[in-house]
Amino acid sequence: MDLSYIINILGEDEFGELNPVSPPIYQTSNFYFKSVDQFRKAISNEKENWIYSRGNNPTINLLCKKLAALEGAEDALVFASGMAAISGTILANIKTGDHIVSVRNPYSWTDTLMNRKILPGFGIEVSMIDGTNIQNIMAACRPNTKVIYLESPNSWTFEMQDLEAVGKFAREKGIITIIDNSYSTPLFQKPLSYGIDLVVHTASKYLGGHSDTVAGVCCGSSELIDKIFQNEFLTLGGIMSPMNAWLVLRGLRTLPLRMERVSRSTGQIVTFLSSHPKVKRIYYPYHPSHPQFELAKKQMSQGSGLFTVQVESEDIAAIEQFCNSLKYWRMAVSWGGFESLIIPSCTFVRPGLYTTLPANLIRFSVGLEDPKSLIGDLEKSFELL
Ligand SMILES: Cc1ncc(COP(=O)(O)O)c(C=O)c1O
Repeated sequence: MDLSYIINILGEDEFGELNPVSPPIYQTSNFYFKSVDQFRKAISNEKENWIYSRGNNPTINLLCKKLAALEGAEDALVFASGMAAISGTILANIKTGDHIVSVRNPYSWTDTLMNRKILPGFGIEVSMIDGTNIQNIMAACRPNTKVIYLESPNSWTFEMQDLEAVGKFAREKGIITIIDNSYSTPLFQKPLSYGIDLVVHTASKYLGGHSDTVAGVCCGSSELIDKIFQNEFLTLGGIMSPMNAWLVLRGLRTLPLRMERVSRSTGQIVTFLSSHPKVKRIYYPYHPSHPQFELAKKQMSQGSGLFTVQVESEDIAAIEQFCNSLKYWRMAVSWGGFESLIIPSCTFVRPGLYTTLPANLIRFSVGLEDPKSLIGDLEKSFELL
């Protein structure tokens, strides 16, 4: 199935005789039956029938089909947020007494789930390791390790894991692998093709692409997805609304265009920054200065629009001035939307919290603006730093 077919055609002819070009938003909680027999048959398979929208809904189902096809997966589930997808997927694959091996510095709330809040309370142990070396992953696994959790690359320091090597090792050991693939989108990296079992995304970023929706997705084999659906998905109930599914579907129509533009603009901006005297270091997986550049080229087809800059100055007041004076780059959390954003680490790094990150980092998310305007804006503000 090619990309255009998935995005424009797949599943679109299932909405009755009116042939809408844009899919209807099935804003309904439930679906009625005209006979007890129909009702009985439907209820025997909640995943395949329209019964109740916590389980299945036509607008949501269309989105699942497209996302599964984009990842090259048999099936997908969508959730109320990326975190609902991540927590539901992890919880579905562990129980009390189990052990998880996770890469260090994953998305902050994933870290909270594993190390501070939910999992420790249920007697699940997590070893956080440097996943840039497969030996660390292998050495951390124990007889009770049930999940290896990856985020490649992660979203501040852009560390990567060798997906093929991890996939092969985990399959031999019978350990489930889960990856947060939000950075690359299914367009730039296809983890299932390297033997990873389950792929999660925050669809609030590039997949939705317009900063108007919070959403998440998990893709994998029918067997693994069905296991999540029958248990954590239906019982925890963190589902996506039909309206939000429609917004993500609309976002997907332009995903290839947006990703091309973002990747190209980011290349230009990173080139500009990498030779700037006020820049100490750039963390961008698709730049030759990245220690894992060769791995990035092996398993990702392109770099996306997120990168971090360490500025030369350690003067927080000057860094604040630089950030405050930018006109095109707005200051906000999140990333992957149409708008360019920055987040300086000095907004949240403080004694006792995130002390592994220096306070002179600025994370950039490149949007769809003219890269010349974005570079010009940076040039002007650098004069203040
Ligand atoms: C890499 C990554 N994964 C997961 C999430 C969580 O997604 P959501 O905000 O949709 O819950 C985020 C959010 O910023 C993220 O950056």
